[in-house]
Amino acid sequence: MTTLGTPLSPHATKVMLLGSGELGKEVLIALQRLGVETIAVDRYDNAPGQQVAHHARTITMSDPAQLKALVEAERPHLVVPEIEAIATPMLEELEAAGTVRVIPTARAARLTMDREGIRVLAAETLGLPTSPYKFCNSLEELQAAIDAGIGYPCIVKPVMSSSGKGQSKIDGPADVKKAWDYAMAGGRVSHGRVIVEGFIDFDYEITQLTVRSVGADGQITTSFCDPIGHVQVSGDYVESWQPHPMHPAALEKSRQIAKAVTDNLGGQGLFGVELFVKGQEVWFSEVSPRPHDTGLVTLCTQHQSEFELHARAILGLPVDTSLRNPGASAVIYGGVEAQGIVFDGVEEALRVPGSDLRLFGKPESFVKRRMGVALARAENVDTARANAKLAASKVRPRVA
Ligand SMILES: Nc1ncnc2c1ncn2[C@@H]1O[C@H](COP(=O)(O)OP(=O)(O)OP(=O)(O)O)[C@@H](O)[C@H]1O
Ligand SMILES: [Mg+2]
Repeated sequence: MTTLGTPLSPHATKVMLLGSGELGKEVLIALQRLGVETIAVDRYDNAPGQQVAHHARTITMSDPAQLKALVEAERPHLVVPEIEAIATPMLEELEAAGTVRVIPTARAARLTMDREGIRVLAAETLGLPTSPYKFCNSLEELQAAIDAGIGYPCIVKPVMSSSGKGQSKIDGPADVKKAWDYAMAGGRVSHGRVIVEGFIDFDYEITQLTVRSVGADGQITTSFCDPIGHVQVSGDYVESWQPHPMHPAALEKSRQIAKAVTDNLGGQGLFGVELFVKGQEVWFSEVSPRPHDTGLVTLCTQHQSEFELHARAILGLPVDTSLRNPGASAVIYGGVEAQGIVFDGVEEALRVPGSDLRLFGKPESFVKRRMGVALARAENVDTARANAKLAASKVRPRVA
């Protein structure tokens, strides 16, 4: 049974978000609506989620001592990781000591903090279909792995990176050194380890949002959202839509894979399972044990967005994953390098039929930083995609 408290009182239900970007901001808003007291943590001040939470804290989340000190000082009921770059072994320690519950579990946060833990779990422990892969510590090992069977084309990614940083495709021997150097420059922690994956020539890729929540019988139950289709440019999401039409057999396989991975990771909450599909064949790519960037589209398509689903699931409340209407999202990049930018064209964007907008409020813009997203609902996905892109194109970020 879930009992919720009153925020800022001795009986508050307290939730701490580790990472307070645009996804965390929406989770925080969903929690606020249920009267949860929220603590938004990020590595810089005035992060999007910090602007809507009861409390804002700025620390280096990859530093175990800082993380421990903050959790022990704030004593939240739940700690909700929103990013991967966290001192997850410390979260495991705090969870084991009974200091705090980590969402979905501290082990899931650790296994998904880099590409290695989750890939080994999915491919080797669970036997799920993935691209052929090999982990390499040097340019020589990379070349040897390609020659020994990965072949061309292939994709190289730093073991520790996200949003496509340091990731590139190798079409032939001439690209190998360039890809290695690029990975070394783009990794989050320069410990020089990469994964090389055989290139999967998929028809399309989807995110299968999967929720583990408490059912009426008190047991954990798994529910699925409609598949989300998306387009990635240089490993970063630029456009997504829901529902993505799928062959029933491919959908069935996708959900079996999603169930196997999320059953193993355990706990409560929403997961974004990334899958590649070709005909009826499905490959597991990776999983986020938290709301997924491509799932921003659910803000305009589902009765409960992925953020509301996450908030409810982690609190032990029932969820409804049903679709309300088709829709799409299109990313708005900063386009400029400046602090405190302004946005022109917002009214034109909102004049596009069925459109909506999220401007994240990030204090600093970079050319390729995601600063907002345009949403559009429509009778079908094609219209929604066209309108989301149109609305996004109307918003013009510029230096103030
Ligand atoms: N083995 C592969 N074969 C074909 N395409 C791939 C492969 N691996 C990755 N990609 C493409 O690159 C995109 C990004 O890859 P991946 O999800 O592994 O990187 P990421 O940095 O974790 O991205 P994000 O954080 O945005 O999810 C995939 O969504 C897919 O479009
Ligand atoms: Mg990905």
